[in-house]
Amino acid sequence: MARDSHGRTIDYLRISVTDRCNLRCMYCMPEEGVPFKPHGAMLTLEEIAQFVRLAAKEGFSRVRLTGGEPLVRLGIGELVHQIAHTPGIERIAMTTNGILLPKMADELRTAGLSRVNISLDTLDSEQFTRITRWGEINDVFAGIDAALAVGFAPVKINAVVVRSLNQDFLAFARLSVDRPLHVRFIEYMPVGTSEGTDGSGWAATDTIPNEELIALLDTQARAAGLGALIPLGDTARPEGWGPARYYHFEGAAGTIGFISAFSRHFCAECNRLRLTAEGALRPCLFSDVEFNVQDALRAGDDETVRRVLREALGAKPERHHNRVGTERLMSQIGG
Ligand code: GTP
Ligand code: 5AD
Ligand code: SF4
Repeated sequence: MARDSHGRTIDYLRISVTDRCNLRCMYCMPEEGVPFKPHGAMLTLEEIAQFVRLAAKEGFSRVRLTGGEPLVRLGIGELVHQIAHTPGIERIAMTTNGILLPKMADELRTAGLSRVNISLDTLDSEQFTRITRWGEINDVFAGIDAALAVGFAPVKINAVVVRSLNQDFLAFARLSVDRPLHVRFIEYMPVGTSEGTDGSGWAATDTIPNEELIALLDTQARAAGLGALIPLGDTARPEGWGPARYYHFEGAAGTIGFISAFSRHFCAECNRLRLTAEGALRPCLFSDVEFNVQDALRAGDDETVRRVLREALGAKPERHHNRVGTERLMSQIGG
């Protein structure tokens, strides 16, 4: 079992397989996309698969593929297959914008993907196009349908909550009633880059603390006849490796989750390590300390890869000390 120097079990590997995306969410990526990098700057799929084999030997058992948008990476189905069949890896999940799921869900399911989290920040089609700069909301709805149809479970919807967007929280919450959808409200993290902005024009005042949102949604839901938001115990929560807290409405097929990414320190429960598309290990989302495993992977030097992995584990900070700035964009870290 992999442990860090603070006694936490670290068994959840988040792998960003590309920093590219077919959308341009305004808080995530500049309109022109990420700066061009030569093809060789990214880990090959074989290098990623090899890293997972070595990480499994160090005790990692759960993998999430992220991006950018993981489904725009060519050969992603084959990578899922390889990871899903790696001894020691029990579950593999993906965080995606869902656009390509109608085309690819079937292949991914067959390849061994267990479940998907689909990012969707608004239910208003015009606002969706504005936030994503050109996305069509119906493509995401079709992606959600496809995810359910092929049997991914649980299927979660990730909505980043931003005060100035005036999102319709009740409409989101209703998605959890008839179908087994798990809607999660995520506090907007004004992470930005070292220049201090992520380009969205939003500020720290745009983060709505989850406690405020829970109270608001509870009131709205009661008034609308959905009943109260009922906290879910650990045994009733949908499978998840992250820090979300879950609630549900009486009789609903799905649940409502809250991720207090900004207002609450869940560092004590941290269980993860991140690998960027270029082969850098990040001990903490909010720290720019990185450990390069690209060279060792390229050299086929398994011992060095494992040593660097252990170094990265040893360098996990106890907590993030309220510093939420990163040199990289979210699209380059994978959330
Ligand atoms: P489940 O396993 O389904 O619970 O997924 P997850 O919540 O681990 O992953 P997902 O990619 O869906 O991320 C949801 C949100 O949690 C995103 O906004 C992430 O940026 C945020 N998040 C993930 N890990 C961390 C972390 O270590 N710290 C903070 N503050 N936020 C995180
Ligand atoms: N704050 C909160 N969540 C974010 N995500 C991306 N950027 C931010 C941010 N600044 C979310 C995406 C996706 C997940 C991987 O991270 O919407 O659902
Ligand atoms: Fe693409 Fe996700 Fe970033 Fe939006 S948030 S631009 S969908 S990677």
